[in-house]
Amino acid sequence: MLRRLHHEQPESFAFTPANQAWAEAQITKYPEGRQASAVIPLLWRAQEQEGWLTKPAIEYVADMLDMANIRVFEVASFYFMFQLQPVGSVAHIQICGTTSCMICGAEDLIAVCREKIADKPHVVSADGKFSWEEVECLGSCTNAPMAQIGKDYYEDLTAESFAKLIDEMAAGNVPVPGPQNGRYGAEPLSGLTSLTEYESGKTQYNASVQLAADIGDTIKRIDGTEVPLLTPWQGKSTAKAASKPAAKAAAKPKKAAAPKAKPAEAPAAAEGEAAPKKPRTLKAPRKAGADDLKQLKGVGPKLEEKLNNLGFWHFDQIAKWTEAEVAWVDDNLSFKGRIQRDGWIEQAKTLAEGGETAFSKKVKKGDVY
Ligand code: FES
Repeated sequence: MLRRLHHEQPESFAFTPANQAWAEAQITKYPEGRQASAVIPLLWRAQEQEGWLTKPAIEYVADMLDMANIRVFEVASFYFMFQLQPVGSVAHIQICGTTSCMICGAEDLIAVCREKIADKPHVVSADGKFSWEEVECLGSCTNAPMAQIGKDYYEDLTAESFAKLIDEMAAGNVPVPGPQNGRYGAEPLSGLTSLTEYESGKTQYNASVQLAADIGDTIKRIDGTEVPLLTPWQGKSTAKAASKPAAKAAAKPKKAAAPKAKPAEAPAAAEGEAAPKKPRTLKAPRKAGADDLKQLKGVGPKLEEKLNNLGFWHFDQIAKWTEAEVAWVDDNLSFKGRIQRDGWIEQAKTLAEGGETAFSKKVKKGDVY
């Protein structure tokens, strides 16, 4: 397939301030003189922000990385994951058309795309909401036929279930990704022969679907404001890493601290990180009842249960966690970085004060599956 720039291009491109800070922080991952190595993450971020890669975006990234425009265009035109033409405002749908999917009905899915979206791939539908293309194997062959939509996989599709998904998305909903025929993961349709604990219903969805359901933003464009952007090699968030001088300052070695009386008793922590410290916990929720911790973006039923088991039942408990306490909870949840990444503390502060977040409103409305 010939991959070239689209004939209609916008006048300009700029990262949102948060994405700009993130992009500048990415560049600091690479040694001096090797900044071009950040080309794929930056192009990808630009695409996540706009939906597709425009000529101004390619030139913008080239400028940031001090590369010739043609070098960045070579990368953008080589990899099929980069869309060089406008895509649907709601979603660009990628149908796997390789062997397993083809045998199991990919052509029926493509027929749905032709009927509901546009007769040809890479053409935006009349209402501007969708576009589609056929892609090579996406590695989900045991759940064929399947499609990647936004950031997630929708599997075990039929023409009917796929058409329904498109209608749901057009109506502004985000259907739960994963198998659409009732399968939990890629287990045999006739039932599990191993890992049978999943049959006991301990978790509602498989791990990747649960994460997608918790986050609830499968088809949302990335503008950098979703969660605190983590740049752990520079500190906690891009806020500190937004400018190059700040980045350089962050890279300077710190003065050695005076040795403490009993260093051996403190739990090990990486340089620049607080040693884990257990926060105050409760044996049970207060009389008024536990808060619905699932109103925190990033906390699903499973994580809520874990938090309760650790002694956390209320937003105000979480709102008070210090950096050292976050490190302790992180260790005990075995999910390092999630608290900062999803901004639990900021969310908990708002909810503890009786406020609402965009995510908590969705949970209350029952829009989070
Ligand atoms: S053949 Fe479709 S995912 Fe592999």
